[in-house]
Amino acid sequence: MISPEMAKSLNKQLNAELYSSYLYLSMSAYASFKGLKGAASWFYVQVREELFHVQKMYDYIDSQGEQVILEEVAKPPSDFGTVSDLFKAVLAHEQKVTGLINTLMSQAVKENDHATQTYLQWFVTEQTEEEKSCQEIVDRLKLAGDTGPGIFMIDTELGARVFTPPAL
Ligand code: FEO
Repeated sequence: MISPEMAKSLNKQLNAELYSSYLYLSMSAYASFKGLKGAASWFYVQVREELFHVQKMYDYIDSQGEQVILEEVAKPPSDFGTVSDLFKAVLAHEQKVTGLINTLMSQAVKENDHATQTYLQWFVTEQTEEEKSCQEIVDRLKLAGDTGPGIFMIDTELGARVFTPPAL
């Protein structure tokens, strides 16, 4: 059982995860339009990961006997600048999400809610991974510059990413 305040915060996070998937779908469309087919595919995998986060959030709220309340999803941007700008925006977004997860965890600690702390631990680890992989891409793009053969190589590498559904 979770508190009504915790249910409200988790519902808010579910909406944030839905927004993440929507944002990455917009980024995928942008990358594809710019001819970056590998990056477009990378973002499409990212969309599916975020939808998995939504599902995980949904199942937990529901399993705790609370109602999942769906809210409006904000419109994402559609212009992301250069390929470096694009991935810097991803990193900044993931850092923001890490902050949201940390705030949720602090609430669970404050409420002495051990079950939610255990549940959120998966997201804490996931965020570390997400930030690490985004930082690596940002660093590689910095080395390659925004045009030329380096981008072609990185785009090809990004296209190799596949979605592996984690265990729920
Ligand atoms: Fe659901 Fe990328 O954090």
